[in-house]
Amino acid sequence: MAVLASWVWILTGCFSPAVAEISNVVSLYPPLWEDSPEQISDYRMEDGKYVINPWVLTDRMGMYRILLNETATYFARYGPENEQNLLWGLPLQFGWQYQTGRLADPTGMTDCGKELEESLCVSVNSWWADVNYYLSVLPFLAAVDSGMTGLSPNQIMILPPLKDQMRFCYNVSDCRSALPKTMDKWRDFFQYMQLPSSDFDGLLKKLWDAHTSSLEYPTRAFVDRYDFYSDQEANFGENWAIVVYYLGAARLPTTLNRSHSFQRGLPTRVLDDTDITPFIPDFTPLQNKVLVTLKLFGNTDRLSGSLSLTIWESLMSTKFARGLFLKAFEEFLGTSP
Ligand SMILES: *[C@@H]1O[C@H](CO)[C@@H](O)[C@H](O)[C@H]1NC(C)=O
Ligand SMILES: *[C@@H]1O[C@H](CO)[C@@H](O)[C@H](O)[C@H]1NC(C)=O
Ligand SMILES: *[C@@H]1O[C@H](CO)[C@@H](O)[C@H](O)[C@H]1NC(C)=O
Repeated sequence: MAVLASWVWILTGCFSPAVAEISNVVSLYPPLWEDSPEQISDYRMEDGKYVINPWVLTDRMGMYRILLNETATYFARYGPENEQNLLWGLPLQFGWQYQTGRLADPTGMTDCGKELEESLCVSVNSWWADVNYYLSVLPFLAAVDSGMTGLSPNQIMILPPLKDQMRFCYNVSDCRSALPKTMDKWRDFFQYMQLPSSDFDGLLKKLWDAHTSSLEYPTRAFVDRYDFYSDQEANFGENWAIVVYYLGAARLPTTLNRSHSFQRGLPTRVLDDTDITPFIPDFTPLQNKVLVTLKLFGNTDRLSGSLSLTIWESLMSTKFARGLFLKAFEEFLGTSP
C-alpha cells in the first residue's frame, strides 16, 4: 500500500505536470488538427502530383499543419513546443470558422458543411471560406516557392471548387501572375525566416504585411457572398476584415496561446437577423462587447475613408506604442497575464 501510494505520489507529483503541460498546448490546437495531413506524402498522389482539395476541411487544415511543421525549427529559439510560431493565428482562425458554422453553405441549397461533426465540406458560397483561401493556399504555395518545403511547385495540384473557378488561382505561376504582390510578401516572410539574422519583430512585421495583402483581393472579389447572410453577419464579416488591418498595424503576436485567447471574444455562431448587439443572450458579455467595438471600428474606417487607419498606422509605428496597445487589448479581452 505504501509502495503504491509513493508511486502515485511520484506519478502525480513528478510526471503529471510535464504531461499536463504538453496536453495543454495540444488542447489549444484547432479542430481536426490531428486528422489533417502533417506531411505532403499524407495527401493522395495522382500522376506524380500530390492532390490537395482546399474545399475539404482537413485538406486545407493540412496545408497549415505542414507549414507549422516546416517552420517549427525557425521558431524554436523563441519557446518550446512550437507555441511561439506566429503562423498559429491562421489555422486557429480557420478552426473557429469551422466550429462556428461559417464554412457551411450559407445559401442552404446544399448540405455542404452542415453536419458539424461529420461533413468536412468547405463551401465555395461561404464568404469566410473564400477569403480564407487566400490565407491558406497562397501562403502554402509561396512557402513551396520559397524552397522551404523541399517540394517543387509542379509536384502540387490544388483542386478547384465547384463554381467560380476563375476567382481562384491554383499553382505557383498562376498565383504569382494573378497576385504578384501578395505572393512576394509571403515568399519574403518565408525567406526572411530562414536568415540567421531574422528576429521575432521582423517576422511579425512580415507576417502581417503578407496577411493584410492577402485580404485585399478577396474582400473585393467576394462581396456578392454577403447576400447569402443576414445583415448582421455580413456587417460582422466586413468589419472583421477591416479590423484585421488595425490589428496588423499593431502587429498582434499570433502565437498559439495568444491567438487562442484573442478568439474567445469572437461570436460562436453565424449571426442572424434577430441578433441585436450588445444584447445577444447566448453570447458572453465579452463577445457582445467585441461585436460593438468591431462595428465602431468599421464605421469609423468607412466614414473617414480609411484615414483612421493611416492615423492608426502612424500611432502604431513604434514598438513602445504597440506594446501599450497589446497590454490594453489583453485587458479588454480579460486575458492579461
Ligand atoms: C500556453 O498555454 C498552455 C495551456 O493553457 C500553458 O500550459 C502554457 O504554459 C502556455 N505557454 C506559454 C508560453 O504561455
Ligand atoms: C513534423 O512532422 C514529422 C512527420 O510527421 C514529425 O515526425 C515531427 O515530429 C513534426 N515536427 C514538429 C515540430 O511538429
Ligand atoms: C497553373 O494553373 C493554370 C490554370 O489555373 C494552368 O493553365 C497552368 O497550366 C498551370 N501551370 C502549371 C505549371 O501547372
